[in-house]
Amino acid sequence: MGCAYGLSALHICGALKGREGAHHVIVDPFQNTTWRGIGLENLRREGIDFVELIE
Ligand SMILES: C[S@@+](CC[C@H](N)C(=O)[O-])C[C@H]1O[C@@H](n2cnc3c(N)ncnc32)[C@H](O)[C@@H]1O
Repeated sequence: MGCAYGLSALHICGALKGREGAHHVIVDPFQNTTWRGIGLENLRREGIDFVELIE
């Protein structure tokens, strides 16, 4: 649950990366407030471009 710094999402997306149709949905009501977007930024830094954030 959640994203925070994106650690679990990085592991999940690492396993999905390169697969056709890869898509990861993250539900976190506080990613852009409390966490100031750092989880999404860390995913972006790793070249993960198939996440969807639902806040
Ligand atoms: C301990 S962190 C874990 C984050 C991630 N699963 C990881 O291990 O890297 C908990 C996260 O849950 C989020 N959170 C809090 N309430 C939530 C809710 N009702 N639904 C989804 N996420 C929530 C917090 O903002 C925080 O990012």
